[in-house]
Amino acid sequence: MKKTAIVGATGIVGQQFLAALNNHPWLEITTLAASVRSAGKKYKEALLDPKTQALHWYVEKDPPAEFLDMEVENAANLDPSKFDVIFTAIESDQAKTLEPKFAKESPVISTASAFRYDSDIPIIIPGINSDHISLLDIQRKKRRWDGFIIPIPNCTTTGLAISLKPIKDTFGLRSVIMTSMQAVSGAGRSPGVGALDITDNVIPFIPNEEQKVQEETRKILGVLGDGCVEPANFNISCTCTRVNVLDGHTESVFASTKEKCSVKGIKETLEKYTGILKDARLPSSPKKLIVVQKDPYRPQPRLDRDAYGGMATTVGRIRVDDVLKNGVKYLLVTHNTKMGAAKGAVLLSELLIKKGYI
Ligand SMILES: NC(=O)c1ccc[n+]([C@@H]2O[C@H](COP(=O)([O-])OP(=O)(O)OC[C@H]3O[C@@H](n4cnc5c(N)ncnc54)[C@H](OP(=O)(O)O)[C@@H]3O)[C@@H](O)[C@H]2O)c1
Repeated sequence: MKKTAIVGATGIVGQQFLAALNNHPWLEITTLAASVRSAGKKYKEALLDPKTQALHWYVEKDPPAEFLDMEVENAANLDPSKFDVIFTAIESDQAKTLEPKFAKESPVISTASAFRYDSDIPIIIPGINSDHISLLDIQRKKRRWDGFIIPIPNCTTTGLAISLKPIKDTFGLRSVIMTSMQAVSGAGRSPGVGALDITDNVIPFIPNEEQKVQEETRKILGVLGDGCVEPANFNISCTCTRVNVLDGHTESVFASTKEKCSVKGIKETLEKYTGILKDARLPSSPKKLIVVQKDPYRPQPRLDRDAYGGMATTVGRIRVDDVLKNGVKYLLVTHNTKMGAAKGAVLLSELLIKKGYI
């Protein structure tokens, strides 16, 4: 079993890591870490609201019993050499300091954006751009690290890149326009989004989100060049909004393809895409990476976010768009804290184990 630490274990994504790794066949959580606020407390005490004593737990199943009495460590004092892999679920500011410290000695799989845009750091979605993993060899050499940092994408990028990959491979991409309707859990637990701000409302701005999604999508769909990824050559423009939904990001996508495409052709391309299954038989591999919904009232976050355990992106309302050249438009739903965060990172760790990087 691989000794595993979760840094940021008390947060929304950290909690999903505990759920995803409970009884995992290859990985065993040996340490939970978070900020000084939680350090020294039992895990269950660190989740308690100091005023109301309510348990801040955001996964649909109860917290796995074996972690409740585990003492939470201060992430700043973690000895990385004790772990085969460290998952980080912390904000970018903290990740900037902690992740390189950990990576000197151990593999770090990150859900934060701190290093996603560095040229020697690949952003990986297993089954979509698994070949970019070999950039880790260059990263280790360049930074003289025994470990490495490998981030997963922003949770809004994940479903977009997954749905665009088969379309790009089959028809080519000229341009993409995307508007997101993102769930409240995407903003994290602290400070998160206030109930009074989001109830009966849509918040039309998420700081830095649009730039992240644009850059990451082109990087993930790019090709591995000489010591870096050459971003895919298409234009992309995003608008990111926050809506009154608990989990599951919905995205409205317009794409202009290089070659002429039909609704039937796009549907077939999406339906038969099995990138992840080709990679390897991994414990967390979903049977399907993309589900095509024919019901015009789908996808909906409540109905579709948990498709294949929250690992599949559901695409629906696929139509021709007459404004764009070779235009196609569709909606998708993707689970932001599962495939878009903890479960996606666990899947990546399994791929890295299979490839001998962990
Ligand atoms: N939420 C999503 O849907 C989602 C999806 C994909 C990626 N992400 C990314 O995942 C990361 C975590 O997001 P989240 O939503 O889980 O946030 P969150 O709920 O606010 O949790 C933040 C975690 O970071 C810990 N923390 C804060 N300061 C720290 C420090 N100085 N040292 C160590 N740990 C510290 C907190 O511990 P305490 O409890 O001790 O304060 C908590 O465990 C972010 O980078 C986010 O962008 C989030």
